[in-house]
Amino acid sequence: MPMTPRQRKFALTAHVTASVGWLGAVAAFLALAVAGLTSDDAQTVRSVYVAMGVTGWSVIVPLCFASLVTGVISSVGTTWGLLRYYWVAVKLTITVLATAALLIHMPPISHIARAAAGPGWSAGDLQGLRTQLVVQSGAALLVLLAATALSVYKPQGRTRFGRRASRGAPQPTDTTTPARP
Ligand code: HEM
Repeated sequence: MPMTPRQRKFALTAHVTASVGWLGAVAAFLALAVAGLTSDDAQTVRSVYVAMGVTGWSVIVPLCFASLVTGVISSVGTTWGLLRYYWVAVKLTITVLATAALLIHMPPISHIARAAAGPGWSAGDLQGLRTQLVVQSGAALLVLLAATALSVYKPQGRTRFGRRASRGAPQPTDTTTPARP
């Protein structure tokens, strides 16, 4: 169902806020993961993993779902459609895969957060998992940067479905292109 211009601006504001907020939260997560791996101070390491548990569940997981939901709304409510343009279809795939990867990795994050908060924690514990967290959050950041670049450049290639559906249909308008004077 097509959105009115006002609804579209609202949906886009929510989408950009959630999506770019997700990217920012993952950047903070990576900084924490690096500090947790490299710091020699047991107290710093302990607080880093407790903070990662809280940030993961309370910020990153909600923002990731908000990005997915608002992205789908912005697609189906405009002539971009969900599967008409490669840039939208690729972003949908990236976001669904990133959401699945995030949900798979949240239990180990909760595990290290609980271990770090416990009395038996020492600075050298769970080294393998701590290295994994740096690699995974670095990879997630690169994927989200790619999705952001795709969103802004919007390469115009259409999917086969999009080519068929577009015959005689109105073209999408790029919200970043200023109107002609
Ligand atoms: C990785 C997560 C995502 C990021 C970082 C992201 C980022 C962005 C950004 C920055 C824009 C604004 C671009 C502009 O107005 O020029 C945008 C727009 C848009 N995004 Fe996403 N997005 C993500 C996920 C998704 C998903 C999952 C979908 C849907 C399948 C989607 C569909 C759209 C559509 C259709 C627009 C244009 C809306 C309009 O013109 O009104 N995005 N996205």
